[in-house]
Amino acid sequence: MSEPATAAISATDLSIRFGGHVAVNNVSCQFYDGKLTAILGPNGAGKTTFFNLLSGQLAPTSGQIHFYGKDITRYSVSHRAKIGVGRAFQLTNLFPKLSTFENVRLAVQARGNLGFDMARLSVDLPGVNEQAEFYLEKVALLSKGDLDVRSLSHGDQRKLEVAMLLALEPKVFMFDEPTAGMTIDEVPIIVELIQAIKQTEGRAILLVEHKMDIIKTLADRIVIFHNGEVIADGDPNEVMSMPIVQDVYLGRALA
Ligand SMILES: Nc1ncnc2c1ncn2[C@@H]1O[C@H](COP(=O)(O)OP(=O)(O)O)[C@@H](O)[C@H]1O
Ligand SMILES: [Mg+2]
Repeated sequence: MSEPATAAISATDLSIRFGGHVAVNNVSCQFYDGKLTAILGPNGAGKTTFFNLLSGQLAPTSGQIHFYGKDITRYSVSHRAKIGVGRAFQLTNLFPKLSTFENVRLAVQARGNLGFDMARLSVDLPGVNEQAEFYLEKVALLSKGDLDVRSLSHGDQRKLEVAMLLALEPKVFMFDEPTAGMTIDEVPIIVELIQAIKQTEGRAILLVEHKMDIIKTLADRIVIFHNGEVIADGDPNEVMSMPIVQDVYLGRALA
């Protein structure tokens, strides 16, 4: 393998402790442009916490985060978002009283360095409405643009989160269980979107996902978290056949 010298985003000896519990324990991992890394591990393994550290929602107890070689460990969430660290929105980040369209519009504006400023919703910035429609179309939500976010189905809310991430046009994409709670017929649109991002944008994509068929379709590499540590990292087939990984997934005690 000839990896480029500089990772899009990387963690070095990254740890976070909550009281006596070490949720992410000395993790070093590099993620490269054009590669999709599936991050797996049992519930409570530290996957979401790892994303929160990369995106700045949590500050590490120790360790560093680099973005294209630059140390961003002390950057705020909004500063990281501005330079292109893209963490999919979660339901709690959506604006429930605004329409689906207006939520995406806010994300488009945020990318234009305007921040999530509701006062600007009434300002007709050139191209913003068209871009919001473009991203809604991508997740097949254009026909629901006028609906309140609250009235969307769970699957549609997840699609909206993805549309808002796309609208930010990040350089690194992080998806934390994007298909969780979706009905079977809603899953392909998300899988196809992630596939399209991978093929056309050439970006680094980090994907926490449990469905093995999705991982087989998308992953170039698999990283396994267990008790806050990376216990396996490499080619998908090799990683999934490792005894330590089998142990974790079969629920057997680790030696
Ligand atoms: N803000 C927090 N305060 C205290 N403990 C936390 C916090 N966030 C996560 N944890 C704990 O850290 C561990 C890892 O959680 P999490 O990253 O959500 O796991 P995963 O996403 O792999 O299921 C869990 O034991 C969880 O209870
Ligand atoms: Mg999680």
